[in-house]
Amino acid sequence: MQVKSIIFVCLGNICRSPLAEGIAKKYAKEYNLDIKIESAGTGNWHIGEAPCPDSIKIGQQNGVDISSQRAQLVQVDDFKNFDLVIGLDDNNVRDLKKLGCKNPLKLGDFGCDGDDVPDPYFFDGFEGFDKVYEMIDTCVKNLIENKVLN
Ligand code: 4NP
Repeated sequence: MQVKSIIFVCLGNICRSPLAEGIAKKYAKEYNLDIKIESAGTGNWHIGEAPCPDSIKIGQQNGVDISSQRAQLVQVDDFKNFDLVIGLDDNNVRDLKKLGCKNPLKLGDFGCDGDDVPDPYFFDGFEGFDKVYEMIDTCVKNLIENKVLN
């Protein structure tokens, strides 16, 4: 199956999945790929909000601008409208299955020893966001190279 669309899903859609969306768009541009990339959350607390300031900051430090993204709730229709539905941790994958997604993947399937991308919402300040960025970058790059290219 040729992958033409990907949605990244975390809990709030304000910390991790916006970075995954921004980073995937960066690689798609680098590789000149025509592909739809979005992100969403399984929780509704932050719908319509911009990403959290520390995610915007770590993105900016790496040349990825996510500041214009706005949080949205994942929709059941997304499961048929996107070729790949990718959770950032095991809880996201579990929640996606509960919502009826038949074949969610986990970002850790593509690197970082299968680890969860830790939820930085409860981090004490900015520390740790660099690790989150690095994990997402590694896995998203592998995902694009292994699943989308060729
Ligand atoms: P995210 O982080 O899933 O990476 O966007 C969170 C953001 C908000 C909440 C939890 C996690 N929250 O409970 O509001």
